[in-house]
Amino acid sequence: MFERLREDVSSVFHRDPAARNTFEVLTNYPGLHALLLHRFAHWLWNLGLKWLARTISTISRWLTGIEIHPGATIGRRFFIDHGMGVVIGETTVIGDDVTLYQGVTLGGTSWNKGKRHPTIGNGVVVGAGAKILGPFEVGEGAKVGSNSVVTKEVPAGATVVGIPGRVIIKRQTEDEVRRKEMEERMGFDAYGVTEEMPDPVARAVRSLLDHMHAVDDRIDSMCKALRTVNSEYQNGELPPLQEEDFDCVRDPGEEKQG
Ligand SMILES: CC(C)(COP(=O)(O)OP(=O)(O)OC[C@H]1O[C@@H](n2cnc3c(N)ncnc32)[C@H](O)[C@@H]1OP(=O)(O)O)[C@@H](O)C(=O)NCCC(=O)NCCS
Repeated sequence: MFERLREDVSSVFHRDPAARNTFEVLTNYPGLHALLLHRFAHWLWNLGLKWLARTISTISRWLTGIEIHPGATIGRRFFIDHGMGVVIGETTVIGDDVTLYQGVTLGGTSWNKGKRHPTIGNGVVVGAGAKILGPFEVGEGAKVGSNSVVTKEVPAGATVVGIPGRVIIKRQTEDEVRRKEMEERMGFDAYGVTEEMPDPVARAVRSLLDHMHAVDDRIDSMCKALRTVNSEYQNGELPPLQEEDFDCVRDPGEEKQG
């Protein structure tokens, strides 16, 4: 239980650059309070104590402005930033590492019982005020723009904006493709930052890594030129980056992603 709590708290640090310390996060983040109360309410709901579960959910709504039906299934490291006005319906299923901002509705469009709310894949980010309505899937890693209204399935990795939500296809730049390859090679996000996280230190590290790649490429082409003079010159591979070298920049509680 404490392991889960630690994970929930550390996910706040990962996704909100304004978070300063654990005490501040535990006392001032309504998204975290709503999540903890939901985990309790969901447990009661599964035990069949439905009235008590709904009452906990209502108290949570009074305290946080976030309404999560106790029947909703929520994965690990879920984070609601700011929170006010978030509504999550009974048959919603949310994967791991999902982020919602204030005013998001994960709702239904029918009064029939049964699955009527969305299923949100791992790593999805839903912008402020967005409405996702209906029993369809939002694929892993998708982004939903603020104030969008989404009523149809969203493919994994897509970005959806507008009313009605439309997928905007963004071609990856060469830098982005190379970063992705490097993350895959090392098994985790070496840059530790997404476009939504304006952490100046992480951005500086990203620039240094980009520069390092540019220098690597330059040295590579110099070596190629020199090998035309001496075929034996610098034939060996450079030593690869080891994952252990990055342990010092990871949170102790953080699990390996992916
Ligand atoms: C959807 C989102 C993730 C897209 O980010 P991105 O991949 O960096 O995309 P860009 O900013 O390059 O925008 C791409 C296009 O979509 C448009 N767009 C972006 N967000 C939009 C939105 N919410 N509604 C309508 N259009 C949007 C841009 O104007 C741009 O259009 P163009 O190609 O015609 O110029 C981001 O805009 C967003 O809404 N994030 C949510 C953030 C949030 O809610 N923060 C709350 C903090 S309190």
